[in-house]
Amino acid sequence: MKSAQVIAAAVALSLLLLAGCRTVPVDGQGAVEGDAAEQAQAVGPADLPVVRVAPSRPAPAAPLEHQYREVPVNGAYVALTFDDGPSARQTPRLLDILEARGIRATFFVVGQRAAAHPTILRRMAAEGHEIANHTWNHGRLPDLSHDAVRRQIHMTNEVIRAAVGEVPVLMRPPYGKTTPHLNRWLSEDQGLTVILWSVDSQDWKYRDPERVQREIVARTKPGAIILAHDIHPTTVAAMPATLDKLTAAGFQFVTVSELIALGRVQQLSSAHGEPVGAFIQPGE
Ligand code: NI
Repeated sequence: MKSAQVIAAAVALSLLLLAGCRTVPVDGQGAVEGDAAEQAQAVGPADLPVVRVAPSRPAPAAPLEHQYREVPVNGAYVALTFDDGPSARQTPRLLDILEARGIRATFFVVGQRAAAHPTILRRMAAEGHEIANHTWNHGRLPDLSHDAVRRQIHMTNEVIRAAVGEVPVLMRPPYGKTTPHLNRWLSEDQGLTVILWSVDSQDWKYRDPERVQREIVARTKPGAIILAHDIHPTTVAAMPATLDKLTAAGFQFVTVSELIALGRVQQLSSAHGEPVGAFIQPGE
């Protein structure tokens, strides 16, 4: 079974479990919304593997957290994230590298840059990457008024919606600066889950591809959310070796929303004593 199919199956299952209609970009087809049958159809080919959790059993979905630094998952799944772009020069180079390897990532875009490069956002969406909110001009949110925070979020959401037709479901506060109060407002009022990171490439500090690659490869564990920036040429230059080493080590790359969905499936299945690994084994 191809790993993409396995991921698609797990994500399809988790979508079935999600209450309400939060939108999650899946497989480059844009957001999936609507009833369960449409969701299952939209995320993969007709020959999806059989999911081993009985759908007839009533069960609450594992709750969505307000904030994630990493996601406990069963399997060597990780999410690669790139902040502060898009960059007219660097982001297309990075997209070429990802495309050549069939790897999907999550881009936390700065609204005013996204406004200048809608075609790059459209390419990201078309190639199955997830686009998320990194504020309008990289403001330090706890220092801003409530109205200013609201503008940072809404203007960026609007630029993303105008470019790709969907509003993001994830946001990353610049510098990782947030508060529990802000997280609750973003999640419950704005439908945005706050995503921090568990692996810091420190690529803003070390403008050296070899060093960036070593920082990432040494720290990455299953469930990791990896932070890098698609505005530095050195970061893009680090990616071929970084991606190839992580792939050789058995890691599989998913978007952040997919990683969260895999984690929620695992939580739910663990609660019912199901060996969830039966359908999300890496390398199968
Ligand atoms: Ni940033």
